[in-house]
Amino acid sequence: MTETRYLTFALAKGRLAIKTLELLENMGISCEEMKDKATRKLIFVNEERRLKFFLAKGPDVPTYVEYGAADIGVAGNDTILEEDRNVYEVLDLGFGKCRMCVCGPESARELLLHHERIRVASKYPNIAKDYFYNKKHQTVDIIKLNGSVELGPLVGLSEVIVDIVETGSTLRENGLEVLEEVCPLSARMIVNPVSLQMERARIQEIVMGFRGILHQRFLQ
Ligand code: PRP
Repeated sequence: MTETRYLTFALAKGRLAIKTLELLENMGISCEEMKDKATRKLIFVNEERRLKFFLAKGPDVPTYVEYGAADIGVAGNDTILEEDRNVYEVLDLGFGKCRMCVCGPESARELLLHHERIRVASKYPNIAKDYFYNKKHQTVDIIKLNGSVELGPLVGLSEVIVDIVETGSTLRENGLEVLEEVCPLSARMIVNPVSLQMERARIQEIVMGFRGILHQRFLQ
């Protein structure tokens, strides 16, 4: 008899992975090895359910899933949109909620209103480009940064930024404001298209399990 093949999960390191593992535990799927904080292991196995898990940098999760190195991934839709990989988004997990916004000093509101050719700094150049070019039909210059994007308008690199706003405290502490909302963000489950064909029943069972737990929580 051939053994059931492993289904592999790629989880975005940090809060999203912690939350996802917590939901899996609620579904009766645990991975004891992953709880050992001192471990240097990279791949964790649940032998009984024939599941494998690994943690990756958020933006790499869609890459692992597109190439089939992971069947299932969990990442924020900020990285999923930015990477634009060939994957199916099958579930909004509803946690990790925040917003992608155009932010800047109040004085930049005018520039947006009049469709001025401004500079936009962002860790998400593709999302920024899609928003300004395709949705707003405004020609802008996009400057890619790798973090602390709020510095852009503060030091004169750009007029505005496109960035994640969660509590809004980074903006407040730096005298910046939300000027426009690009899209809401949350953790999403993505699946490799071939895996979905080949392992439909098992993947569906996992998706339904997540749905059930999320629904129960919503009712509590
Ligand atoms: C993110 C984001 C904002 C901040 C928003 O940055 O880029 O800077 O969090 O959160 P808030 O609205 O709750 O203040 P992150 O901490 O990931 O670091 P980074 O700036 O280096 O990307």
